[in-house]
Amino acid sequence: QVPHVTLCVRASDFEAAAKATLPNKSWIYASSSANSGQSLQGNLDDWSRVTFRPRVLRNVETVEVGTRILGNSSPLPFYCSPMGSMGSIHADGEIEMTKAIVQTGMHGLMSTASTKTTEQIMETYLAEQERRGSNASASKLMFQLYIPTDRQRAVELIRRVKKAGFHSLWITVDTPVLGKRTADRYQQAQEAFDVGLAEEDVEPAAEKEVETEGGAAPKVSPKIGGRPPPGQLSARTTWEDLAWIRREWDRPIVLKGVQCAEDAKLAVEYGVQGILLSNHGGRQMHTAPSALMTLLEIRAYAPEALGKLEVFVDGGLRDGADVLKALCLGAKAVGVGRPFLYALAAYGGKGVERCVDVLSEELTTAMRLLGITSLDQVRPEMVNAQRLLNE
Ligand code: FNR
Repeated sequence: QVPHVTLCVRASDFEAAAKATLPNKSWIYASSSANSGQSLQGNLDDWSRVTFRPRVLRNVETVEVGTRILGNSSPLPFYCSPMGSMGSIHADGEIEMTKAIVQTGMHGLMSTASTKTTEQIMETYLAEQERRGSNASASKLMFQLYIPTDRQRAVELIRRVKKAGFHSLWITVDTPVLGKRTADRYQQAQEAFDVGLAEEDVEPAAEKEVETEGGAAPKVSPKIGGRPPPGQLSARTTWEDLAWIRREWDRPIVLKGVQCAEDAKLAVEYGVQGILLSNHGGRQMHTAPSALMTLLEIRAYAPEALGKLEVFVDGGLRDGADVLKALCLGAKAVGVGRPFLYALAAYGGKGVERCVDVLSEELTTAMRLLGITSLDQVRPEMVNAQRLLNE
């Protein structure tokens, strides 16, 4: 039974609604994580281990949550993370998500593994903006790039994304191969078993799905937005590849999936505009650090990075107060993934809008209770991260 959308009062409430809505295969695709699930659990747990240090008796009547993301103004300090084939979650997945992005004004990242083409997504974005009479000049759509193995394909894809008018390129660097998605493996093994295959056939069947983030059992036939076919995700990419990408792309570049201070330093050296601290929602490396742990590591060992490029985080953010913690510790904005995907699954674009409202309200309440009225007032001393640092 799917509850009425207004009964979802926390971002995490959309999970049960999605589970009640989705066919099992799609549910597994959206919710699965790597190996034992510890990376995912760590993402969820770590935010609650940082506490606030609220200041009182400050005038907090009027609160402003606007910020800038890579030079582009945003009414909110969080954005929608890229999540593979939304078409396997909702028949109009990317279209509904794009409409919700326009409606809320937040930034949104579209995945290379989308079930709609880059052009279709941008067309929807522009048409929706026009329909609502909003200013179409600055694109808030950003593109997540999985670098195809074939250089020519990669160049063509980047050119298409540029031509379509995407605002920035977020290159996913934590996926030279797909992590071990345990729930998918169990399901594949069960399917193989059910059709009576011999045990030794199970492993190859599982391998077939391995190198795509495209998702299982799309309800609509995928019109791939440049997605490399399974097996074509480049495991050969290195820092040196940034040079030719830079020649093709003159707008901001962000590396998605930085997980330690050394790589943050390298990102500064290689001159990218931003890094997104992320373990891919716990779907890639087993026992990877949460983005919060990496942020603390960077504060300790590469603090200069925070001044030289924009630092973003994602993974396990389920409360507007957690968003505020990330900003206090130096993040420019944060990505929210599954809550928006689950909201999309259960209620379409309206669900995503509701989820954005929930997070925004929690954020403004947390700001008031912390004693600040705008995001340029956030400071690291407004939180206490000792519990995590002492480990
Ligand atoms: C993802 N993520 C992801 N990342 C990426 O760079 N390209 C992609 O295509 C996808 N696809 C994808 C599909 C699904 C179903 C999920 C749940 C995640 C990772 C995503 O961008 C982000 O890093 C995490 O989802 C953030 O964690 P939370 O908010 O889901 O906990």
